Amino acid sequence: MIDTIPRSRRLFRGRAAPARRPRALRYAHLIGWGMEVPSQVLSNSDLEAIVETNDEWITTRTGIKERRIAAQRETTTSLATRAAQKALDVADVLPGAIDLIIVATATPEHIFPSTASLVQDYLGATNAGAFDLSAACSGFVYGLDMAVNKIQTGAINTALVIGAETLSRVVDWTDRGTCILFGDGAGAVVLEGGDTPGGVLGSVLRSDGSGWDMLTLPTANSRDTYLQDGAHQQGRIYMDGRGVFRFATRVIGDSIRDALAQAGLTPDDLALVIPHQANQRIIDHVAKALKIPENRVYSNVARYGNTSAASIPIALAEAVEEERIKPGDVIALVGFGGGLSWAAMVIEWTAVPSHPSYSITWGRRQGAYAYAGVRRPLIRKWRRLMLLSPTTWILMARAYLRRRREQINRLRGAKDEE
Ligand code: UT7
Repeated sequence: MIDTIPRSRRLFRGRAAPARRPRALRYAHLIGWGMEVPSQVLSNSDLEAIVETNDEWITTRTGIKERRIAAQRETTTSLATRAAQKALDVADVLPGAIDLIIVATATPEHIFPSTASLVQDYLGATNAGAFDLSAACSGFVYGLDMAVNKIQTGAINTALVIGAETLSRVVDWTDRGTCILFGDGAGAVVLEGGDTPGGVLGSVLRSDGSGWDMLTLPTANSRDTYLQDGAHQQGRIYMDGRGVFRFATRVIGDSIRDALAQAGLTPDDLALVIPHQANQRIIDHVAKALKIPENRVYSNVARYGNTSAASIPIALAEAVEEERIKPGDVIALVGFGGGLSWAAMVIEWTAVPSHPSYSITWGRRQGAYAYAGVRRPLIRKWRRLMLLSPTTWILMARAYLRRRREQINRLRGAKDEE
């Protein structure tokens, strides 16, 4: 008999597989949220002293009034860690219970190690895997999707997803078209698996790389021809504002509708939409595209500007705190930006409002952070010692003993002289 199965689709029947297969799909619930922004405020009138602009232009064209700028000691990692600690407080989860940490960022401290690994260390989340995710302003929703899928299959139970940026360090402060837009900050959520229906209901991830050059942040590895054309600089944001505006308004409505369709819902079911906070005019467009009232679209762009991957989790944390989201509400998140990339997610909110309190677990969390701080230098010293060869160990021990002997002899000599 002729085998009709294509060669590429033939599978060897694994014997160990049945034991590894997850049970039924689980639900992924958002149980904690937190945000952290620098205290330094840069207002539109402050910007008038930096570039040729004015409050009226910025307000009418973008809706932005002010943005936060990181102080010298603040980094993407420190903002991310603080936001994560607040989210863990709301969720009342211990760092040791986290299985996975994803940091969505376009402004990591290093290409490697990942910001997520540094956050993992600061939190003392010693059982977690950690990685950074690069999808520009869509990064937070992409990161949520990754974590949700691992939770739903039962591979992990608890995840921390963070969006964090220090964009003020990569903005071209001579370009009035971009420097007025961006700000710094971080937002985080804790996700947990459960059998109670609800949580994340649907999500859509999309990309169109043909528009890669509309929004860029070149690195040392960018093509010479790109960096030498006079318009682009290494480590500085470049944006074709009008092009990105058109792209964003084209994709937002459809991506939310597609995510809703996965759950058999329509825009009328949405209690709140939290779009990426790029421009008030784009945020207003969301309501028009979905034919829902404007008060069902959340905006805080006036206070923080565009914080890229951090904008959605910051807005989500504020919306929950302002009681704009209640248990049972269906909400949508939508991100869009460099790549070009875009992503939408629909969530049935299940978290019952509660305020972080000084519980025993709060104390244990503080203990875990303090222990992580003590452990870090000790483990680094220990690792350095472990890297030495046995001969070096012996030589070091001999040198130590010689020094001690000399010291004792010196003391004896001094005593004899007395
Ligand atoms: O997070 C990633 C996603 N990013 C976005 O979604 C950003 C999308 N794009 C936008 O939000 C808007 O395109 C901008 C806010 C960036 C720009 O607004 P626009 O209405 O598209 O302005 P434009 O770039 O078309 O510029 C209009 C005029 C120009 O003058 P001329 O050529 O018409 O004489 C600009 O030179 O406004 C001028 N202009 C400014 N004037 C005062 C540009 N920037 C400024 C400024 N202050 N800061």
